[in-house]
Amino acid sequence: MGRKIVVTSGKGGVGKTTVVANLGIALALSGVTVAMVDGDIGLNNLDVAMSCENRIIYDIGDVVQKKCRLKQALIRDNHLDNLFLLPSAKYMPQESINPQAFGAVVNELAREFDIVLIDCPAGIEQGFHRAVSPAQEALVVTTPHISAVRDADKVLGLLTTYNISSVGLVVNRVRGDLSAKDTAMNASDIARLLRVELKGAIPEDDKIGFAGTFAETGSERCYTAYRMLADCVLGKSNRVYDCERPYQSFFSRLLKKRG
Ligand SMILES: Nc1ncnc2c1ncn2[C@@H]1O[C@H](COP(=O)(O)OP(=O)(O)OP(=O)(O)O)[C@@H](O)[C@H]1O
Ligand SMILES: [Mg+2]
Repeated sequence: MGRKIVVTSGKGGVGKTTVVANLGIALALSGVTVAMVDGDIGLNNLDVAMSCENRIIYDIGDVVQKKCRLKQALIRDNHLDNLFLLPSAKYMPQESINPQAFGAVVNELAREFDIVLIDCPAGIEQGFHRAVSPAQEALVVTTPHISAVRDADKVLGLLTTYNISSVGLVVNRVRGDLSAKDTAMNASDIARLLRVELKGAIPEDDKIGFAGTFAETGSERCYTAYRMLADCVLGKSNRVYDCERPYQSFFSRLLKKRG
């Protein structure tokens, strides 16, 4: 049985869908088989981030309504043979897919794939419950902004009421130039504050902002940051990307190492 990991957050718009898309690619590049499920029913963002919106024939709604088999709805990535996407149901109201039906689809995927990544919708209501219920592991995404960190704290509390055995933190959109000058919290400070294991730090990157994935934009630092996140998820390493490094002098790096 494959691992079922939900990517969630407290505050909306912090980068869950972007993290699912890029982490999915990075994991697939490491050789594992990956299925990404768009849990944002009624809105479709993951297929857009993965640039495969024009190839959708069936979606999760069709699978649940038995209009097609699960395999028919899966979209293979444009470049990677071991990466697949199950698109969200665009024209269905939120409530038409209940947690049981959603969970059954996720479980079926976990029988075929090494890792199932679930993209959780914004908010902590019905859609959150549906996306989190079938997962065994969670990655909580936040940005360094105080409002996002506060909402991540709330969600971490909420996750304790689910059957989740492991929770990790991804700090997205880190401005290394600011945290190097101590004008913003760095990823480790945020993880310490939230008392959760830091799995990844992703730098602010205009290219990702426009095109969605490092594969499309060729952003080298996001490539490195996401490969490091994938290694942490796979238990190969516990090192996260150092977003501040390009902005630090040799001596401040030396002091940091010693401290
Ligand atoms: N590292 C980054 N650098 C710059 N922009 C980013 C980065 N990560 C994500 N973004 C941008 O932030 C915006 C929100 O990202 P995304 O849609 O992934 O968030 P979300 O948490 O899934 O939102 P929602 O809660 O609405 O589902 C997008 O425009 C995306 O391109
Ligand atoms: Mg999203």
